[in-house]
Amino acid sequence: MDHPSEQTASPTAQFMQYVSGFWITQILGTLVRLEVVEQLAAGARPCDDVARALGLESQHLHRLLRAGVTAGMLVEAPPGTFALTSLGGVLRKGVPGSMRGIALAMSSPGHWLPWGQLAEAIRTGRPRTQETLGMDFWAWLNRDPSLTEEFAEGMGNLSDEVGQELATLHDFSAYTRVADIGGSQGVLLGHVLKASPQCRGILFDQPAVIPSARARIQAQGLADRVELVGGDFFAPGLPAAEAYLLKFILHDWDDEAASRILRRIHEGAPSGARLFVLEQVLPDDGSPSFASLLDLNMLAVVGGKERTAKEFRALLAAAGWTLEAITPSRTGIRVLEARKP
Ligand SMILES: C[S@@+](CC[C@H](N)C(=O)[O-])C[C@H]1O[C@@H](n2cnc3c(N)ncnc32)[C@H](O)[C@@H]1O
Repeated sequence: MDHPSEQTASPTAQFMQYVSGFWITQILGTLVRLEVVEQLAAGARPCDDVARALGLESQHLHRLLRAGVTAGMLVEAPPGTFALTSLGGVLRKGVPGSMRGIALAMSSPGHWLPWGQLAEAIRTGRPRTQETLGMDFWAWLNRDPSLTEEFAEGMGNLSDEVGQELATLHDFSAYTRVADIGGSQGVLLGHVLKASPQCRGILFDQPAVIPSARARIQAQGLADRVELVGGDFFAPGLPAAEAYLLKFILHDWDDEAASRILRRIHEGAPSGARLFVLEQVLPDDGSPSFASLLDLNMLAVVGGKERTAKEFRALLAAAGWTLEAITPSRTGIRVLEARKP
């Protein structure tokens, strides 16, 4: 939101840019939800045309588009005609680097309403989903396939870049089977399998997520190499594999629950199995980090938490895993590589 007229903003104006951050979340989500983004996908269009196509009042839509310009997602030229900027282009579905799903997920009630009660989350140390959604976050998602799909698309958005990098950081061709536990649509697994063509994949997630995973795995041309397994990662009988992926799972849970997941994987794993945990890692020197913000998201929405490297090492060790390496990635996500002795 760095509008030229605000570059020399007063302290009050600068503060307003921070404190109105939630407006930006909703502007981005609304540009997607109203399908404005798809209307602009082929290039610049007059506001009147877009409004007609979407059955909206042009005068109201114009207010959203004008704010979209201030948010850096759109440009207006000539007056009354709008186009996506290169940043705004990632709001499109299916484009490289797409962030459409995450824009939808962050602006929908599943995140939005619990965050509105952050003070209570801090007071109690508990998520705010029961109070705001009437159930826990996963139950809320699972009761509506479109919400399941929206969140899974968002998770795929956040797995794409780091997935490409993971496949270059580690040689997975040594393994016959790689299992992605809580793998959502399988975007991460897809990158690993594409880089190691003789390797087979197992995608494990909640039964409600499997139809959306199946569609995405098929679209990647990997249907004959991936076994889709619906289930509960707290229950015994997780699939056996020589290597496991576990991305953005442990941070969803408190230590007791995270430890149970790690033990369940350990039970089914052969000795020598590798576990690749992909998470943001909190710095232990108090320096500012995105992980500290994500930590509050985990608290308010799912009751989980981010962890320091030391905390990960202890959590893994208590479940029988030896942490052997921590590798940074360009996205800020770390790859924690552990082994079952
Ligand atoms: C934060 S998402 C991470 C998805 C994926 N690993 C990624 O990073 O893109 C957490 C995943 O855990 C799955 N999940 C939650 N509870 C589960 C359970 N009890 N058993 C299996 N999967 C579960 C969700 O469906 C979701 O796909």
